[in-house]
Amino acid sequence: MDTFTPLSEPLLQLEFDTWRPALQPDLSARFALALEKGKVLCLTQLPFLLAPKEQEFLSPEWLSGKRKNISLEGKGVRGFSGPPDAVLRMHAMIKRYSEQAVGLVTRLFPGYTDHMRVARASFRPGVVGESKTSWRKDDSRLHVDAFPSRPNRGERILRVFTNVNHQGIPRVWRVGQPFESAAGHFLPDIARPLPGSAKLLHALKITKSERSEYDHIMLHLHDRMKADADYQKNAPQQEIRIQPGTTWICFSDQVLHAAMSGQYMFEQTLHLPVAAQYHPEWSPLRVLEKLRATRLTAG
Ligand code: SIN
Ligand code: FE
Repeated sequence: MDTFTPLSEPLLQLEFDTWRPALQPDLSARFALALEKGKVLCLTQLPFLLAPKEQEFLSPEWLSGKRKNISLEGKGVRGFSGPPDAVLRMHAMIKRYSEQAVGLVTRLFPGYTDHMRVARASFRPGVVGESKTSWRKDDSRLHVDAFPSRPNRGERILRVFTNVNHQGIPRVWRVGQPFESAAGHFLPDIARPLPGSAKLLHALKITKSERSEYDHIMLHLHDRMKADADYQKNAPQQEIRIQPGTTWICFSDQVLHAAMSGQYMFEQTLHLPVAAQYHPEWSPLRVLEKLRATRLTAG
């Protein structure tokens, strides 16, 4: 392959050691531009502290069945198996993470506050890469996040992560080339959706609403990137080692990422309309619309 653009520094390190930082607006604007351009913001001095009684949760034994995560969706805890009092304590622990993570985002990026939607939060006690899955679900391959059953019409996926490993083990990611470069690489081979396919997928309940052309492209981008062994090996990329006690934030629908190793992490997902960004032109929606020279969310 010869069309690759070089990789810029994927991380921006932030020095805050509190979940409630007070920022001057100009600093906020600087961090927002970096985040929206596709950087991973890394707060290396921002641990999530577990209470003494919560230490026992640092074990994959609490995972129920084949699920990789214990998650908080609405009021319930999913993916957890344990006695009723443990369910309550697990719920409280993930909820506390969720509140801190959401509070952090609103303080770093006040412009998002009134527009973001808080989605799932999860605790991930499993060893990365231990459960073997299909190539499509294999997150050790570079990818951008895209949900097959939940079309989002360009709405952003913003994620906050914290490594809570207590044995000094980093979470190791690979981070790939800028979104626009990756999109430019794969887009020429992604066909337009077949007429009527969005309605059919919805009627068959494969999707929860009608898939926009944006969703169609993002899913193909996700799949083609993961399926392309040459791209996985040879595309520009950088390994990042995220130490315990570090919190990091990125738009995971934009940052090409792959989880290589690690254990014990918290994660909070937030959704944000493109219009609520400080710089909407950096969104995957606007970038893809520019490359395709057409609107991608009509209908
Ligand atoms: C992913 O979002 O692809 C996985 C992140 C992780 O488990 O570190
Ligand atoms: Fe991912």
